[in-house]
Amino acid sequence: MLAEAQEARGSAGAAAWRVGVTRLVLTDFRNYREVRLTLGTEPMVLTGPNGAGKTNLLEALSFLAPGRGLRGAKLTDIDRRTGSECDPRDSGWAVAAVVATRQGALRVGTGRDRTVSERREVRIDGEAVRGQGALGERLGVVWLTPPMDRLFLEGPGGRRRFLDRLVLGLDPAHASRATAYGQALRERSHLLRDGPADLAWLAALEEVMAEQGVALAAGRRDTVQRLDRACAEAEGPFPRARLTLVGAVEGWLEEMPALAAEGRFAAALAANRETDGQAGGASIGPHRSDLAVSLAEKGIAAEFASTGEQKALLIAILLAHATLQQAMRGEPPLLLLDEVAAHLDSCRRAALFEALVRLNSQAWLTGTDAALFAPLRYHAQHLSVREGTLSPTPL
Ligand SMILES: Nc1ncnc2c1ncn2[C@@H]1O[C@H](COP(=O)(O)OP(=O)(O)O)[C@@H](O)[C@H]1O
Ligand SMILES: [Mg+2]
Repeated sequence: MLAEAQEARGSAGAAAWRVGVTRLVLTDFRNYREVRLTLGTEPMVLTGPNGAGKTNLLEALSFLAPGRGLRGAKLTDIDRRTGSECDPRDSGWAVAAVVATRQGALRVGTGRDRTVSERREVRIDGEAVRGQGALGERLGVVWLTPPMDRLFLEGPGGRRRFLDRLVLGLDPAHASRATAYGQALRERSHLLRDGPADLAWLAALEEVMAEQGVALAAGRRDTVQRLDRACAEAEGPFPRARLTLVGAVEGWLEEMPALAAEGRFAAALAANRETDGQAGGASIGPHRSDLAVSLAEKGIAAEFASTGEQKALLIAILLAHATLQQAMRGEPPLLLLDEVAAHLDSCRRAALFEALVRLNSQAWLTGTDAALFAPLRYHAQHLSVREGTLSPTPL
């Protein structure tokens, strides 16, 4: 089956390319002092004991996308700790990569700004870029990690972050809208709290929130509808996911044009100033939306599915997302799948491996048990991770 999957890629002619990291250099990144890797674009399998540095390596790759990486960590926490009181080098961590893309090699350098501890510097093709949005325009990166096993059980924040990462993959402008909305929301909250408010300034902020917030909700809604369709059409042993977006602004978009929804949102914000001022934040807006997922075949909400089913649902969504991004942007995202294989039954594991070999982008898989990845022996690159060092896995 895997050989067939590989042949299917090769014989598709134009599909012989693959997005993938071909060079990776980590400096003082968590438990890695220095790593230099030269790779092909085939799937990557990282195996090693607990605490070896597998997730750390995926975290480093997650900085090839905008944001705070797959742990959402403080940037200073990523600096390599040596055990001694202060690190003599006292320089921030850095990740440099060359990524093969359809438009050619993309060179990314990123790391903690040494002067401003919580700012991340980004260079693309040698040029410093302002903000991180440019990264999302050049490359998609999505991930699945063990803490996300609780995604359907915990509050909506994690689901929103998961969804926003998927929206960003299909529509890179999503990041700047989210930033503009968040800034206006914070400034309005300060004004309401510190009062007496400057009414003209308050109205201007609410206008920004309405405009950016409706665009944000519309972008999420579009992605959720596309993903829902793609999941319904997907074949194979993964459960069919049904996705819907829950939120006031999203509801208005069902009923009225975007411009009318903006007016409605701005009016609601103006009407809620007093209660929002008391409670903090804003009681209505896309910062409160939620992604609802259910198992189509069983008609049950994801939170009531088994842990294994929930994981399979998330994988099904990521695979559908990869297909969509390929269709919309011409190339799928890099997939970082941390400790995923061990939690799938053998049928789904085989289907996942097959899908990843077919995919026109590099997938990174981790696990403690190298034997699980035996079917990928000739279809992936295998590295063993031990105490912050990497070596080829003996086959
Ligand atoms: N800033 C840091 N400096 C040095 N080591 C770190 C830092 N942050 C985490 N670590 C170490 O990295 C190891 C965890 O690596 P991780 O990639 O999560 O392991 P795993 O291979 O199980 O995924 C732990 O031993 C932890 O102490
Ligand atoms: Mg780990």
